[in-house]
Amino acid sequence: MKSDSPRILAIETSCDDTSVACLEGMTVASSVVSSQLDGAKFGGIVPELASRAHQANIVHVVRRSLAEASWEISQVDVVGVTYAPGLLGSLFVGLNFAKGLAYGRGIPMIGVHHLEGHVLAPFLTDNPPTFPYIALVVSGGHTQLLMVRAIGSYELLGTTVDDAAGECYDKVARFLKLDPQGRSSMAGPMVDERASSGRADAVDLPRPMLSSPELNFSFSGLKTAVLNFIKGRSLNDLEVNDLCASFQEAVTDVLLHKTMKACQAFGVDRIVVTGGVAANSRLRTAFADAASRHGLALHIPPVAYCTDNAAMIGITAFFHWQRGEQSGLDLVPRATMVLDHKT
Ligand SMILES: Nc1ncnc2c1ncn2[C@@H]1O[C@H](COP(=O)(O)OP(=O)(O)OP(=O)(O)O)[C@@H](O)[C@H]1O
Ligand SMILES: [Mg+2]
Repeated sequence: MKSDSPRILAIETSCDDTSVACLEGMTVASSVVSSQLDGAKFGGIVPELASRAHQANIVHVVRRSLAEASWEISQVDVVGVTYAPGLLGSLFVGLNFAKGLAYGRGIPMIGVHHLEGHVLAPFLTDNPPTFPYIALVVSGGHTQLLMVRAIGSYELLGTTVDDAAGECYDKVARFLKLDPQGRSSMAGPMVDERASSGRADAVDLPRPMLSSPELNFSFSGLKTAVLNFIKGRSLNDLEVNDLCASFQEAVTDVLLHKTMKACQAFGVDRIVVTGGVAANSRLRTAFADAASRHGLALHIPPVAYCTDNAAMIGITAFFHWQRGEQSGLDLVPRATMVLDHKT
């Protein structure tokens, strides 16, 4: 029996967070994110350990999500699951769990591209965007500008030619030893916090590719400039705050400038900013100011839906389900895969 609001269990295990959400149609009944801490000991994510941790956590996180939604597993109508891009061993855990559930219960499984989840995350809010819109996906592994014409219609307009902006935040936090536990999920928020007490014009840092004609980005030169500034200096607290504020301003300037350029080039007046770095407080105010100055509609999801979460996978699965789409149980995970469908 097909209802308009199926009960969707969504699973996201592309990196180091085990996330499970329950959605009734577009309404989130629960969204659980369990972060792994193993990376702390090794100064970053170790793929083998991340997949083992997902394996240990997945059943508990599914149970917690079902309990918070007050659902039984037998009530689930559809399983949504991230299958690309990400760490292969991590993706395997979520995907195989989803397959087992779909096969055992005889219900449809819908494989979701992680970046499509980020791009559609604002549909989890009360103020969703209308089409077309320019999406800036700015996360730990990606920095991309996409033209979103409809559900399923994505055109890649620009991407980073080296590091992602989030990766750059993580490295700067590590250079400055901001988080003694080395948790990548805390790196961006810690730079953000230190920057809030610093002066954005204190350190002169480059804005790579700011005035290049295309819509691509580059962040590795900025990362190196921060490293060179730190080398041989022993920074006090105030100087660390100033460096964080100056770095954050440089990243935000580039992201904002290129996004505005995309809006102008394609005559689009709606922007979505999404992915973990969209949680950044300076980015949020800079985009809000620019949007109001230029009369653009701006949609940035709440922080919990910017960083990795399964609710965004669930709502994306819902849209595919509405279109009558489902995945075969022979679906395999993919470590890399560009989101670029022109329909
Ligand atoms: N307040 C913040 N300011 C700046 N960066 C932040 C903030 N909060 C989180 N981040 C950054 O967001 C990134 C994590 O985002 P996300 O979870 O979307 O990445 P990912 O899923 O690992 O990568 P991808 O989505 O590209 O596969 C990290 O690099 C983190 O430092
Ligand atoms: Mg992500």
